Amino acid sequence: MATGPPIEELHFDNAPSVNTIPGPDSKRLLERQQEIDSSAVAYPERIPIALDEARGATVRDVDGNTFLDFFAGIGVLNVGHSNPYVVEGVKEQLETYTHTIDFPTEARLDLIDRLREIAPGNLQNASKVVFGGPTGSDAIEGSIKLAKHNTGRHGLLAFEGSYHGTTAGALTLTAGKQYKEGYGPLLPDAVHMPYPSASENGDVDCDQALEATKRKFENPYGGHETPAGIWVEPIQGEGGVVVPPAEFLQGLRDIADDNDALLIVDEIQTGIGRTGEWFASDHFDVTPDAITMAKALGGTGLPIGATLYHEKFDTWGSGGHVGTFRGNVPAMVGGLRAIEYIESHGLLAHATELGAYLRNRFEEIAATTSEIVDVRGKGLFIGVEFVDEAGNPDKGLVTAVQEQCYENGVLVWNAGRYKSVLRLIPPLVLTEKQAEIGADIICEAIEDVTGT
Ligand SMILES: Cc1ncc(COP(=O)(O)O)c(C=O)c1O
Repeated sequence: MATGPPIEELHFDNAPSVNTIPGPDSKRLLERQQEIDSSAVAYPERIPIALDEARGATVRDVDGNTFLDFFAGIGVLNVGHSNPYVVEGVKEQLETYTHTIDFPTEARLDLIDRLREIAPGNLQNASKVVFGGPTGSDAIEGSIKLAKHNTGRHGLLAFEGSYHGTTAGALTLTAGKQYKEGYGPLLPDAVHMPYPSASENGDVDCDQALEATKRKFENPYGGHETPAGIWVEPIQGEGGVVVPPAEFLQGLRDIADDNDALLIVDEIQTGIGRTGEWFASDHFDVTPDAITMAKALGGTGLPIGATLYHEKFDTWGSGGHVGTFRGNVPAMVGGLRAIEYIESHGLLAHATELGAYLRNRFEEIAATTSEIVDVRGKGLFIGVEFVDEAGNPDKGLVTAVQEQCYENGVLVWNAGRYKSVLRLIPPLVLTEKQAEIGADIICEAIEDVTGT
């Protein structure tokens, strides 16, 4: 029996409805925010709305405008905003108890069990889960400690174009200079290798990337301590929804095996069904040594981070990795119920089908303009890459598309080394009708800004 209502019943509507934006109440809150909130606030600069209520794949602002949400709180709300099945469980849990550090609870152990069941490859039912702090960055920190502890080495290897978070260790692995410049020195002996793309216009060959990675391990004059692990996004998110060639992850698996290093796959943005599989690693038939999770893991946006790793690496003693907020039970119930909802409503297959439909719509436009060089992704993790007439990355086009989409009621976001990729990560509960209406609005914006 299906758990919770069908996806068609989760939303305000299938179509957006937008009058004046930003409306007077949004403006008032945006102004108030500007006065007292941090200058680091970023999202409202590009999408100036103040939220009132959100359901499924739709959000309503304080002036009553309704938007189709194609970025899902930046990849968090896979089962939609305020999914009633998830919220019901979370509410019940909130009224019972919330914070348990790491004392056992049914919810904690049930979530661990489910994660072990849906884990990629040979991690299935042969893994352990460690909770630490509540963010993705915290999960990455846990994985760094796991790799160091199990190898006795401190070197780190990640990839150009990567994003792994903002705490010191995670920031070391993150490649984007904008996030790290001025904050060094970070962790020592960290290197970033080229990340190849499966797309024709990718600038790095898979063999070259693997060879460069191998040299960092095996060249005695490689310049850095041999890495304890390889941290990789199975599909790069912030870096521009870059899907690597099919053989890349297996190549990394072999290098890690040959050098007694851990392969840590960062599934923080790609996990919990986003790409049409539970984890993007499943697309590549590779078993990582560890995967990091957060974002959609809390079900309805409750913060929870976790690192799942093969049980052979469970070498920590008591208190080996800790954190006050490692037992947020409502978030654990949220994650458990989100997994149940995805399963019982067939949302992995749904994400695969809708993703193919959406990519097809953008490919049709790409065929008519030289300003789109690539449409890519898996499931509901989609990137559309723009260039200018000279073939250079064009952030301006993406900004203009985003602005027109906002005016017409669809919220979208960007990505990419040059922010020239339109990134679409709607909730997996998006209906077919919403996908069609959203695609119409996005395609119209693309046509308008590229003049096709
Ligand atoms: C792949 C990936 N890893 C790590 C992180 C960091 O997660 P958080 O922002 O929760 O610290 C993100 C956030 O966008 C991410 O996309």
